[in-house]
Order: sequence, then structure tokens, then C-alpha cells
Amino acid sequence: MTVPTTDDMVTRLIFHESSETLLIDLSSIHVSTREQVDIIFNAIRNCLHEYDKKLDVIVTYDGFSVDDEVISYYGENLAFFQDNIYKSVTRFTTRTIEENQIKKLRKYMDEQNQEFELNLDTKFIDDRYMLQQNTILGEGAFGKVSLAIDKRDKKKVAIKRISRRKMAQVNATEYVKREIEIMKKLKHKNIIALVDFIETDHSYYIVMEYCDGGSLDIEYNQYSEQEAWKIFVQLAEAVRYIHECGVIHRDLQLSNICMHNGVVKLLDFGLSDVFENSVGITCEHDSKRGVLGNASHCAPEVLTEQGGYNKSTDIWSLGVCLYRLLFGCFPFNPVHNVFVMKYTVGLEEEDLSDEVRDLLRHMLEKSPNQRYTIEQVLEHAWMKKFKD
Ligand SMILES: Nc1ncnc2c1ncn2[C@@H]1O[C@H](COP(=O)(O)OP(=O)(O)OP(=O)(O)O)[C@@H](O)[C@H]1O
Ligand SMILES: [Mg+2]
Repeated sequence: MTVPTTDDMVTRLIFHESSETLLIDLSSIHVSTREQVDIIFNAIRNCLHEYDKKLDVIVTYDGFSVDDEVISYYGENLAFFQDNIYKSVTRFTTRTIEENQIKKLRKYMDEQNQEFELNLDTKFIDDRYMLQQNTILGEGAFGKVSLAIDKRDKKKVAIKRISRRKMAQVNATEYVKREIEIMKKLKHKNIIALVDFIETDHSYYIVMEYCDGGSLDIEYNQYSEQEAWKIFVQLAEAVRYIHECGVIHRDLQLSNICMHNGVVKLLDFGLSDVFENSVGITCEHDSKRGVLGNASHCAPEVLTEQGGYNKSTDIWSLGVCLYRLLFGCFPFNPVHNVFVMKYTVGLEEEDLSDEVRDLLRHMLEKSPNQRYTIEQVLEHAWMKKFKD
């Protein structure tokens, strides 16, 4: 651990002229006095002062620490830096800061009502993909999905960042590997295309085609029967395709369905798996994790722990998706006991065709053996109802 001196700071500021990037290396620095805080920020200010163009600033904070006595002073300087000098910065990103430092700094920055960007890191994505500021497309348990531009063809892409640390904490690293293997193998117009996969010390980055319409659950919309039909026929084609490829999704829900120019794109294969011998898989190897995905979309046999996931559990979730599109709410109370005890599909009051009610009943069929397969869903009369 070193304390910052002016000479030391000179070697820690590296300006890359061609990429207009300033790398600030604050790793393994321990700051215990106000003077040391001043040294850091003066060095940065002086360096930035020399350039009038907008820069990308990347700060590396591995093993960086600030004593409690000067944490607020450090925070004030950072806030000043962001308020003033930040204006000349295109993008401000940081590498890892140690957990306790993140907490302290976040707290301070939150109090100051500052947006403190901790997640968009690494020059690896900078080489090929330019992250767009303030364009978070979605947020999940293990990271964020951001909009970026592919420098090679200038096309928009969506980059899902997954924290390696968070994945390791819950022993879920194999899920990322599986997500990538599955995405690589799926090629269909209604399934999100994988563009690239990048691993860095701290993160996995899944680069995907970008959907401009966002996901379907954004506003808990209720769609007309015909609008729901347009979405559902495409979604069912996506599910038929993955089942044919030997993949079950296990997390079918509206937040994992995006629209791009009116075309449905199924995404988030984070919980997907391949099934062997077409018999479906049990959740044995996931037993510690209990129910995967969203409980309110889970088939009854999964919730009661008598059965594992297989193709028919995907059909149940697909039924919940169709129900939500039509009614704007869930068919069941997601609390497990209530759900298992009071099994009813309240389809009666609404003004819907008999065909769609019939299809919903066959998908939200309690017994997996009697539940429709995806082929039966696609052959159902409702699937042709609005065809020109
Ligand atoms: N390619 C994309 N284009 C536009 N928006 C996207 C794209 N991919 C994801 N999103 C948005 O980001 C949200 C989260 O993405 P995703 O479902 O893949 O991650 P997650 O739910 O965090 O994953 P996991 O369930 O594996 O933790 C989506 O609900 C969607 O709103
Ligand atoms: Mg998701």
C-alpha cells in the first residue's frame, strides 16, 4: 500500500491521445490525510486542464482505501471533480473499488445526489464497443444491461454486464457459461442474437443485438386480443424453436421478451438448460436454489417440488405470459400456498374469444401430462384467428 505523492501521481495518470482516454490508476493507494487527497485531485485537474477536447476517463481503484477521517473530504473533491471537470469528460468509469470503500463512497455520493458510475468498466469493451452514457436498458441481480455502439459497423448493441464476484458468491458461474453456449447455438428471428462474449477480471459481458422497443413488462400493459395475438404467435415460434433445439428456457416472462421494430425477441437464457433424451430435466442440480426464475410464472409441479423443469413447465410460463398480455395481471396469486390451494383461472368476466380462453386453459393446465405441447399450441384454432 502506498501513499500518493506528486511524483507518484504523475506516473499514475496515463493519457492515450489516440483514444482520447485518460487512465487514472489509483490502485493500492492508501489516503490518510487531506494533503494526500489534494495531491490526487490536483494531479487530475492539472492533467485535464491541458486538453480542451472531451475525454474518456477510466479510474482503477483496486485496493484503494481512504481513512475514515478524510472520507468526506475525498467525497467532496470527487463531487467537485464530477460537477466541474466532468463536463469536459465524455464518460467517467471506474474499475473495482474495494467493497467497504464502495459502500462509504456510495453513501456519501448518494447524499450529494450524485450519479456515481461504478459499473461500466474495462478498456476491453472500449476497444470494440463504445458504451453510451446514461443508457441503462435494464438491471438484474448480477449487473446491468447498457446500450453501446459497435465501433466496427456503428450498429447499436446491448451489453449485459455480469459481475463475476456476485456470480461466484452464489456458485452460479456455470449459469453464465451455459447462457453463452445456449445463445451461440440458437439462431432464429424471434430470439435475441449473440454478437460477442467478453471476459475480464471482474466481469462477463454478453453483447447482443439491441431491441429498440424494450421489454414487454415495462408498463404492465393490457393489450387487445389482436395485439396480444401478434406478440404471442411470434413468441410461440421462438419456444417451438428452442424446444426443437433441446433447450428449455425456465424463465419465460414478459421482462425477458423484447420488441424490435414490431418483431418479438426472446432473451435472457440465464436460467436455461439443455435437456437430454427428450425426457426433460429435473432441477436436481439446482436443488439448493429452489425455484428458478419468477415464482409467479412457475408451473404448479415445480412449486410443489414434485417435479423438475421440462418442456411442459415452459408451456405453463408461456400461458402466464399470454394471460398477462390480455389481462395486465397475473392469473394466480404468486404466494405458493394460496396458489396451490386455489387453482382457478378467472377468464369469465372479460370480453375475449372462446378460442383464446380455450388455449389459455390448455396451457395453464395443472397436470403436466395433459398440458398442451408447443406443437399443440401452434396448431390451436386461435393461432390462425387474426391471420390475413
Ligand atoms: N438486447 C436488448 N435490447 C434491449 N433491452 C434489453 C436487451 N437485453 C436486455 N434488455 C433489458 O434489460 C433487462 C434485463 O436483461 P436480462 O433479462 O437479460 O437480464 P436479467 O434479468 O438481469 O438476467 P438474469 O435473469 O440472468 O439475472 C431486460 O428485461 C430488458 O428490459
Ligand atoms: Mg431477465
